[in-house]
Amino acid sequence: MAKKPQIFVTQQFPDAVMARVERDYDARLNDTGRVPDAEEIVSRTSGCDAIFCAPTEKFTADVIGRLPEGVRLIATFSVGVDHIDLAAAKARGIAVTNTPDVLTDATADITLLLILAAARRAYEGERMVREDRWVGWDPKMLMGIEVTGKRLGILGMGRIGQAVARRASGFSMEVHYHNRKRLPKDQEQGAIYHETADGLLPHCDFLSINAPATAENYHFLNQQRIALLPDGAVVVNTARGTLVDDDALIAALKSGKIAAAGLDVFEGEPRINPGYRNLENVFLLPHLGSATIETRNAMGFKCLDNLDAFFAGRPLPDRLV
Ligand code: 8YV
Repeated sequence: MAKKPQIFVTQQFPDAVMARVERDYDARLNDTGRVPDAEEIVSRTSGCDAIFCAPTEKFTADVIGRLPEGVRLIATFSVGVDHIDLAAAKARGIAVTNTPDVLTDATADITLLLILAAARRAYEGERMVREDRWVGWDPKMLMGIEVTGKRLGILGMGRIGQAVARRASGFSMEVHYHNRKRLPKDQEQGAIYHETADGLLPHCDFLSINAPATAENYHFLNQQRIALLPDGAVVVNTARGTLVDDDALIAALKSGKIAAAGLDVFEGEPRINPGYRNLENVFLLPHLGSATIETRNAMGFKCLDNLDAFFAGRPLPDRLV
């Protein structure tokens, strides 16, 4: 029987995914229960041909430069690739694949959940019931912001942004967007394009951040940009925490400039800015965008399809470099 390719699998992925890993690969598993750091990534990949990883592992230029010679593919269990220095991988001849498409709907669903939860004060209501502080129905209790019919600005109209727009039309929202490139008319779904992100902001009763993290958009939502939003806007982020300047958002949530926020992603997660924890008007989730059984299995299978193709000498379905 042919020797199975050796791979380092950095996390315990869902069971159906791990079953395929163990069937088809000589897999070095991470059973430490911890995210492997740079040293562990380098030492544990010795003798491996590929790495099956998640965005929790940071593949900086330094780590990539220190990977053993034999490593020729990094397959990441994510659509986002801001944790991998693609240029460094390319320079070393290491292919990188990700998991587009399969997590679009799950992430768009969570975006709508954040929009509704933030606007309708779901956190305060849920806590009131759970903590037995609900004394009875009251006509003015926890009045939130109506979502239906409002303007939704989408920053980043890729697959997920477009799926958010489709869902928003079910709430009769007027969708505005900014994207590096304007979409072809037939894909715009009637959404209004803004040439610049700053031009989009004044039209956002709700702002949904759906752009991939880049060096250029680090702390995109800072104090100056928050000032461009209408007073009492609602902000949600299911992309990456680095697009938000947390101190600026926390100050705006305290002053009421931003009425509410819904956040699934954070800079430096899981160690989030502690300022969020004491705010009643922010709805917080622990990076659950793609966390459904169906989607997480599909993401894992996509990683494996790329690994399988690589070792069979076929073109990689989701190759980035
Ligand atoms: C994942 C994501 O849940 O794919 C991404 O880029 O942020 C999420 O969908 C996360 O990366 C963990 O795999």
